[in-house]
Amino acid sequence: MLERVEELRVEAASAIEAASGTTELEELRVRYLGRKAELTTILRGIANLPAEERSQVGAGANKARKALEALIELRAESLDAGELESRLAEDSIDVTLPGAPARPVGHIHLITRTTRQIEDTMVGLGYQVMEGPEVEHDYYNFTALNHPPGHPARMLQDTFYVQSDPEVLLRTHTSPVQTRSMESQPPPIFMIAPGKVYRRDSDATHSPMFHQVEGLAVGEGITLADLQGTLDELLRSIFGSGREARMRPHFFPFTEPSVEFDVSCFQCEGTGTLADGARCNLCKGIGWIEVGGAGMVDPNVLGFVEDNGYDPERVQGFAFGMGVERIAMLRHGVPDLRRFFDNDERVLEQFS
Ligand code: PHE
Repeated sequence: MLERVEELRVEAASAIEAASGTTELEELRVRYLGRKAELTTILRGIANLPAEERSQVGAGANKARKALEALIELRAESLDAGELESRLAEDSIDVTLPGAPARPVGHIHLITRTTRQIEDTMVGLGYQVMEGPEVEHDYYNFTALNHPPGHPARMLQDTFYVQSDPEVLLRTHTSPVQTRSMESQPPPIFMIAPGKVYRRDSDATHSPMFHQVEGLAVGEGITLADLQGTLDELLRSIFGSGREARMRPHFFPFTEPSVEFDVSCFQCEGTGTLADGARCNLCKGIGWIEVGGAGMVDPNVLGFVEDNGYDPERVQGFAFGMGVERIAMLRHGVPDLRRFFDNDERVLEQFS
């Protein structure tokens, strides 16, 4: 029996010495010292041995087990150290290598750039920039803009309503900022309100979310001629110094009279014909391109803020609104408005 113990010890010891990794070492521990190992069985069976063998075999088997345990511990330490060493070597970073290729610094989106250009021009004319909420109350989006409840003009724009409250909606235009601004300060007021607006609409020239810039000027003695001069100035700053604004009669509930305004075509200089005699494709031969809506603020709109000094008998003014995407598309020849929001770098990087 003692001989067998010695055989096992020698066999196990050389296997432990030769173990190439901690996983293999653990397998050996189970094989030679585990619950079903031969040595363990011998130790468990000592009580059944004849008395004269008992103490000798017991001492020898215990000694062998202790020796093997110590050997395994030793081997484990050196294997651990070796494995750590090689992991560190694999993971090592050469700090002297050059960094990843420099990433180009981003730039602002064309829509933001266009908005800021309009802001700059209007601030130069003495206007202040104001903002209003995108989730708006029916009162500001419609009622205070002279759309009585049930008025068919409410249907002119396909509105997104907030399901839990029929009075709350995503603003369909930036015009609600008119009333909010007049509530916040007495006349005279000269302000523009850029921002996102929402309508149920989606094709190459419409997106459910788009941007507008609103303009409002109210004070004593402001006339339609002032609107014409302001639009001339604004459109020149956007489309070039030779441009002119043209107003055409139109309808909006909150302006009276109302107009749509155009800019003289910057591709054909307003002639409708290109240098080679072909019809201008940008203005379709008309010489004018539609840009936005405007008009003299309806006295009823001022009536909603009369308490704040906007007496329609004393002050009057104009308002205008235009779509930023439309302006950017015209200026830069972008054929599809949706390209602004696809976030395709190949498109966006062209407008740095
Ligand atoms: N709010 C109008 C629209 O979204 C534009 C507009 C603004 C018209 C101000 C007149 C005055 O179509």
